[in-house]
Amino acid sequence: MQFNNKKVLLTGANGGIGQAVAKAFAEGGALLAVADIAVDDINAQAHLPGDLSDDKYINNLVPSAIEALGGLDIVVNNAGIMRRGDVTETSVEDFDVSVAVNVRAPYILCRAAIDHMAANGGGVIINVSSCWGVHPGPGHAVYCMSKAAIASLTQCMGRDHAHQGIRVNAVCPNEVNTPMLRTGFERRGFDPVTAVQELNKTVPIGRIAEAEDIADVITFLASDQARYICGELIEINGGKPVS
Ligand SMILES: NC(=O)c1ccc[n+]([C@@H]2O[C@H](COP(=O)([O-])OP(=O)(O)OC[C@H]3O[C@@H](n4cnc5c(N)ncnc54)[C@H](O)[C@@H]3O)[C@@H](O)[C@H]2O)c1
Repeated sequence: MQFNNKKVLLTGANGGIGQAVAKAFAEGGALLAVADIAVDDINAQAHLPGDLSDDKYINNLVPSAIEALGGLDIVVNNAGIMRRGDVTETSVEDFDVSVAVNVRAPYILCRAAIDHMAANGGGVIINVSSCWGVHPGPGHAVYCMSKAAIASLTQCMGRDHAHQGIRVNAVCPNEVNTPMLRTGFERRGFDPVTAVQELNKTVPIGRIAEAEDIADVITFLASDQARYICGELIEINGGKPVS
């Protein structure tokens, strides 16, 4: 995909999917502002580290990216956290931080980006939801709720802002081989390598996704080749349904 000097803000840039997305945009010639708790090692034009549950930080993030890059064409809301458990196993803190990072921060970033894009001829927003936001899986009630919220918000924004030349879509991956998945196995006492091998057998296409499988869909949605796609939730699941 070619993004000659398109200006991109990417959150969660230091994570598994984030690093692959940053690389794909950089290879396509985009100018990147990267956001995460730590972003020092990422090749980008602007490094904007901070905590997405901090109001001051999120309110300044889009303006800072615009200032650093000289504009903003594409936003990828990729950062996310997964707090596991059914509702009785989760705390109010799990609920609050999941909503803050997975829903509230993207909402505030989208709002600011849409204002800027509407005044500057349009733009593209891609949110990273999950297939669990579309078809809730077991034992992850708060995570599924937060991903359903960002999926719904994406559909609403996609419809509401298409007339301004702004395309808003979401990707909804099933399992992806990233730190989020592997640390989850470790925390539950499983060897992540063996656990991923076992998980591979459950996917019709023969393996769980790698970060690049998701990054390719995100850059497609950001590109002009996806110019007529608005408000869609694109499942990326290798044929595996949520069960
Ligand atoms: N890995 C999967 O199986 C999977 C499946 C479906 C959806 N997703 C979604 O993909 C996205 C990327 O996840 P990943 O798998 O690359 O996980 P990851 O844990 O490797 O990356 C997530 C990134 O978000 C950042 N982040 C978390 N909380 C933050 C905060 N408060 N402030 C700033 N940054 C914060 C982390 O530092 C991390 O770098 C997430 O939204 C996740 O929910 C992942």
